[in-house]
Amino acid sequence: MAKVLLGFMGAGKTTIGSFLDDNFLDMDLIIEERVDMSISDFFAHQGEAAFRQVESALLEELMTKEGNIIISTGGGVVISEKNRQLLRENRKNNILLSASFEVLYDRIKKDKFFQRPLFLNNSKEDFHGIFERRMMLYEGLSDLIINVDHRTPEEIVRIIKSI
Ligand code: S3P
Repeated sequence: MAKVLLGFMGAGKTTIGSFLDDNFLDMDLIIEERVDMSISDFFAHQGEAAFRQVESALLEELMTKEGNIIISTGGGVVISEKNRQLLRENRKNNILLSASFEVLYDRIKKDKFFQRPLFLNNSKEDFHGIFERRMMLYEGLSDLIINVDHRTPEEIVRIIKSI
């Protein structure tokens, strides 16, 4: 069954996925390859709804894969009920990387490589609202919740491997 990393933007899902397994499946990177542009360009040209469709189809595809795979999701994967239903069935293998808003906000602001459209297009207050709503969804879908605020990737990986 797939181990699925959940969490808000900036929580380190891609980094932890890569530490866990060289062959981890990163949804955002796969989407960028398939649409042949960066996610921020895709949002700009096709809109968020089109991105969510590609994201949902990919989640469904990856969740049916056999074997002990690691999937790093994008932070918005939980906003669709259809996706949540799929993730609910995998609850005992979902891992939430949880962090405080200020830590994440600071990381996202400094990350010039991954430009997050929702960060660029929302005020800090609205972005905080998105964070609060999402956290409730992630928490309801994850049996394991790891606070990553003061933990190194190595420590986080050790926790995941110990369960
Ligand atoms: C999004 C998170 C991003 C990416 C897209 C939308 C979101 O992934 O999928 O920008 O809605 O939270 P990360 O969580 O890897 O930043």
